[in-house]
Amino acid sequence: MTKKILLLPGDGIGVEVVEQARKIIDFLRSEGTGIEYEMALIGGSAISQVGEALPQSTLQLAKVSDAVLLGAVGGPQWDSLPHEQRPERGLMNIRKELRLFANLRPAKSYPSLQAASSIKAEILGGTDMLIVRELTGGLYYGEPRTIGVNQQGIRYGLNTTSYTEVEIRRVAQVAFESARNRKKKVVSTDKANVLEVSRFWREIVTDLAKQYPDVSLEHMYADNAAMQMVRQPQYFDVVLAPNVFGDLLSDLAAAIVGSIGLLPSASLNEKSLGLYEPVHGSAPDIAGKGIANPLATILSLAMLFRHSLSLDAIADRIEQAVERTIAQEILTADLMMYSQHKSRRPFTTEAVTYAVIENMKDSKRT
Ligand code: IPM
Ligand code: MN
Repeated sequence: MTKKILLLPGDGIGVEVVEQARKIIDFLRSEGTGIEYEMALIGGSAISQVGEALPQSTLQLAKVSDAVLLGAVGGPQWDSLPHEQRPERGLMNIRKELRLFANLRPAKSYPSLQAASSIKAEILGGTDMLIVRELTGGLYYGEPRTIGVNQQGIRYGLNTTSYTEVEIRRVAQVAFESARNRKKKVVSTDKANVLEVSRFWREIVTDLAKQYPDVSLEHMYADNAAMQMVRQPQYFDVVLAPNVFGDLLSDLAAAIVGSIGLLPSASLNEKSLGLYEPVHGSAPDIAGKGIANPLATILSLAMLFRHSLSLDAIADRIEQAVERTIAQEILTADLMMYSQHKSRRPFTTEAVTYAVIENMKDSKRT
């Protein structure tokens, strides 16, 4: 059966990196894999062309697709827009509309790229963690929210955090299930020492853990988790986090393993529909130069094949090809500076993609 993928390049380097994923899809199509794709607008480019960050037509196409691959949104030309009209709103709205409550952000170190980490090699070791971030609730979406003036005439800003039992349970379940396929260890992060919402989070996660006696659960204050992640990153396997803590900890995990240019993510709903995107942003400073690292997007495509299309063999093949490409030191500038051959000229975005495809061909032959 033919599967349908929606490609949303977005802004900045999003355009270039999604173009690389398209080449991988085209290569797989040339081998006879039944996939079709379409492109649509999101983010700043959608604002500039049709006046809104998430056009209805894009949302409709997403809803009838099997999966969505997104580049990145945002850029300086849209920075002065009012809050509700910014490109980021496109991303926030598509997450909410597609009910993508579970955000998986794996962060794993590659042996040949240990020098790219800000952490000493002996501490970094074979760090390999998965952050499971709640994505459609908490502080990001809580009501009321406003910038206002109170009765004394004093201006204030207001956001709210609340989590329902259902919201906590369903994302925690994803964390426990994921842990079963890994080292069977979940660290759940909260601020239960200060926040009611966190005490409730802890209570529900503890209750759910009873259904997973084979998985160990530890609760950790989010601030301590940030410190432990830097001190002993290898301690972590699956890290469960509410929306805001997950946002912070996933950037931290990116710095620990070295390059944000390598980190993929998957945002999933209750069914198999998912949105896949690199963890990095639109990097306007390097956009259009052909030097952006395409690997985070290519690895996001691999996650798409695994989680939304149930084509695990293709996912494995893409991931292995990426690993080989890294081992061959066919790297863009962000990573080449840390490789064994620092003085080598970095490869372009396209050249790295080409190498991944060549490595995929080899894996078919063997
Ligand atoms: C992320 C980003 C987004 C977030 C922004 C762009 C809205 O930082 O995906 O981590 O805060 O969720
Ligand atoms: Mn973030």
